[in-house]
Amino acid sequence: MDPVRNPFAPGAGAPPPELAGRDELLETVRVALARIRLGRAAKSVLMIGLRGVGKTVLLDRMCADAEATGIQTVRIEAPETRSLPGILAPQLRIALLRLSRNARAKDLATRALRALAGFAKSLKIKYQDIEVGLDHDPEAGLADNGDLEHDLQALLETAGIAAQSGETALALFVDELQYVREDELAALITALHRTAQQRLPVVLVGAGLPQLPGQMGNAKSYAERLFDFPTIGPLPPSAARDAIIKPIEHEGAQITDDAVALILERTQGYAYFLQEWGKHAWDAAESSPIMALDVERATVSAVATLDESFFRVRFDRLTPTERRYLRAMAELGPGPHRTGDIAEVLGKQSSALGPTRASLIAKGMIWSPLHGDTAFSVPLFDAFMRRSMPGDAWRA
Ligand SMILES: Nc1ncnc2c1ncn2[C@@H]1O[C@H](COP(=O)(O)OP(=O)(O)OP(=O)(O)O)[C@@H](O)[C@H]1O
Ligand SMILES: [Mg+2]
Repeated sequence: MDPVRNPFAPGAGAPPPELAGRDELLETVRVALARIRLGRAAKSVLMIGLRGVGKTVLLDRMCADAEATGIQTVRIEAPETRSLPGILAPQLRIALLRLSRNARAKDLATRALRALAGFAKSLKIKYQDIEVGLDHDPEAGLADNGDLEHDLQALLETAGIAAQSGETALALFVDELQYVREDELAALITALHRTAQQRLPVVLVGAGLPQLPGQMGNAKSYAERLFDFPTIGPLPPSAARDAIIKPIEHEGAQITDDAVALILERTQGYAYFLQEWGKHAWDAAESSPIMALDVERATVSAVATLDESFFRVRFDRLTPTERRYLRAMAELGPGPHRTGDIAEVLGKQSSALGPTRASLIAKGMIWSPLHGDTAFSVPLFDAFMRRSMPGDAWRA
């Protein structure tokens, strides 16, 4: 069928043609943000899920929905290599400048911009990656202590007061939260705790890999009570069907039930894979309706594409030792696996593999669902590892 009209959108953060199965969560977050704006209690929301389940597109949608209601949003992605203050400061500045155009909030937003100036100035030595335009002079004693935990709290508090005066809210949308360092995470949690206690309209909507709740708990023991952690998983069958059928029908084409069933089986409902299979099935079909046979052919090219993109980008970031560790895990199947069993496959002591395991967790490749267990963070990664490191040579 005409590839130009192909509706599917595989790709990191690529908005899908049909955002299937997430209405309930979108509504929960909409209500939470509206409540916070009114000074009512509501928890910040951190979406937890494996790679490719659709966290980023959800976050973007929530951010766009919030903006449409006049909430001031800050949208950032925590990078592996930069500091949270470094990445937050410039975006917060933009939100505060926008807020300062609101007549009711002008003075207090200006004060928040002063707080930001003090914040950036005093933390610049510790976080050299803070680069932010300064619109106002700092106010002595306002968010300029030089201690992140204290200053971030003062900054978000001042910003919250400004948002309140403008009858809006400040919503921070932060992706890849698991990459934030523990002390920076602790500072963020403390600051949000403080604004929540004061019923200031400041809220975090975040997304991260499954190790995030544990990291938050380590950073601040009360974090798990302060936030909701909805799990973003594979789409249930009815939603997965919608994700495939609706975009096709929207283009005036059809797909048979058998073909849809086969896509669901192959993708296990994982969002990224649904987009990839949908795309390849469309391209494989000569004409509508798309048939099971087309999906069979699409499977070969979809897997090849994933191997060269979704899986490959992650594989390329690994050291040879890390690859062997993941290959040994794959030998045992999809998992989760006992950490001791993985060590046994490699003929090593668990303790000797500790550093490798830790670096794989830091890179977001694996996580620990239970003490002593290890699981892949990327769905279907075990099969990919067996394809990319076939045979037994890796054991040597
Ligand atoms: N609810 C959904 N229905 C259909 N397709 C979806 C849905 N959510 C996401 N997708 C598709 O899945 C793919 C991955 O989405 P996204 O990048 O948001 O995942 P992610 O969880 O952020 O992954 P990562 O952890 O790798 O960043 C995209 O191609 C997107 O279009
Ligand atoms: Mg993402």
